[in-house]
Amino acid sequence: MEKNTIILAAGQGTRMKSKLYKVLHQVCGKAMVDHMLTQVEKTNMDHVVTIIGHGAEKVRELLGDRTEYAVQEQQLGTGHAVLQAEKILGDKDGMTMIVSGDTPLFTAKTFENLFEYHRQKGAAATILTARAENPFSYGRIVRNEIGVVSKIVEQKDATTEEAEINEINTGVYCFDNQKLFGALHQVKNDNAQGEYYLPDVIGIMKEAGEIVAAYEMDDFSESMGVNDRLALSKATKVMQRRINEEHMVNGVTIIDPENTYIDYGVEIGADTIIEPGVQIQGNTKIGSDSVIGAHSKIVDSTIGDRVTVTSSQIESAVMHNDSNVGPHSHLRPKAEIGEFVHVGNYCEVKNAKLGARTKMGHLSYVGDADLGTDINIGCGVVFVNYDGVNKHHATVGDYSFIGSNSNIVAPVNIADHSYVAAGSTITNDVNQFEMGIARGRQVNKEGYFKKLPVYDAALKAEQENK
Ligand code: UD1
Ligand code: CA
Repeated sequence: MEKNTIILAAGQGTRMKSKLYKVLHQVCGKAMVDHMLTQVEKTNMDHVVTIIGHGAEKVRELLGDRTEYAVQEQQLGTGHAVLQAEKILGDKDGMTMIVSGDTPLFTAKTFENLFEYHRQKGAAATILTARAENPFSYGRIVRNEIGVVSKIVEQKDATTEEAEINEINTGVYCFDNQKLFGALHQVKNDNAQGEYYLPDVIGIMKEAGEIVAAYEMDDFSESMGVNDRLALSKATKVMQRRINEEHMVNGVTIIDPENTYIDYGVEIGADTIIEPGVQIQGNTKIGSDSVIGAHSKIVDSTIGDRVTVTSSQIESAVMHNDSNVGPHSHLRPKAEIGEFVHVGNYCEVKNAKLGARTKMGHLSYVGDADLGTDINIGCGVVFVNYDGVNKHHATVGDYSFIGSNSNIVAPVNIADHSYVAAGSTITNDVNQFEMGIARGRQVNKEGYFKKLPVYDAALKAEQENK
């Protein structure tokens, strides 16, 4: 028996007040429709058809060939949306699940439970329902005197009595595929919104004498639908808690989970400690026994084992095992920090490699450079990589010493075992075992202090301090 799924994702999402299609809004770094598809993929469907709006190329770009598509030219309602899949699924037997792209919190486990219930009941349709504390805006499940589902009524069409029902339609259903499309052709749009409602097929099937079942899930939060930015933030909270709890179960210490923001899909090894206010985003991997200090932000980066990041920002960079950075430093794209490297405070590294054990303690900028191992970079060193038009590259060999406040003007090569004297502006290569020194020579003028205005001021202060 075939098992297929239709994902409804064609609505523009007026209530979001956004240029972006609603289902592309992100929850913990992943578009809502992608969350849904990811869970659906775990249930081994024969076909997954996503209904997209006219011009929803961005949805297609994002999901690629993970799903088939049907285009709904005009958004005439959820029932009309499902009909667009008839070309692909109309002749199939078996079961079709329908879900929405704006309910990002559902899990594959819940879907499996729903299939099982649907099978057991031998139903033509099974609605996944939940009890909502505040059911406003959801479709309500209307049951008859003996508790059997008779129909679903939308918020805008509900009588005062119906509006009090707190059992809601989660927007997830299982159908006998043939009966679904049969009933869909009978759906009319004579309702408050002038739309073809998918939930109307329930009433239609019921009247035709089909078995309609309802499977009530116990966790309402999982069924949350996101129609506006308020719901988006609530869904993000739920997802964030879920992500953080999973990391903690896997052995990560999160000091303040309510204030730690980790994207879906981030990997973190055991015994790593995450301090408050940290954001870890995108395609990021962090090893074991590391410490990510308060208010650090890490995006699309790879961090090894036993690494310490102290209140720093890291984007598209790599930090190898046992290295450390911060406080208040910035690793920018293509920074690669070697093993046991120390990058201290107020440093920036961009498109540059620092070899193992190299140290760069304070206030330096390294851009467009290859640095070897065991180098000492003094305080305030600047790799001068930009002439206003082009970027230039510099190299520094192993065991070299770059004195404080030097400018390394690229393109230039500083050999291994060489020395740059503090305060130098280096424009020529420095060879092995050489010292490069490039600064004005110091001259001391005897007695000159007494010719300066500070001399009188000093005398006066000395008198007063006696
Ligand atoms: C819908 C249900 C409601 C349920 C709720 C659960 C209907 C009429 N109502 O309401 O019973 O409680 O979901 O979250 O189905 N879409 C299209 N084409 C359209 C219209 C919508 O593809 O023409 C898509 C949207 O992109 C969205 C989904 O269908 O992903 C649901 O549409 P939405 O307008 O959000 O319905 P709700 O008002 O939330
Ligand atoms: Ca919705």
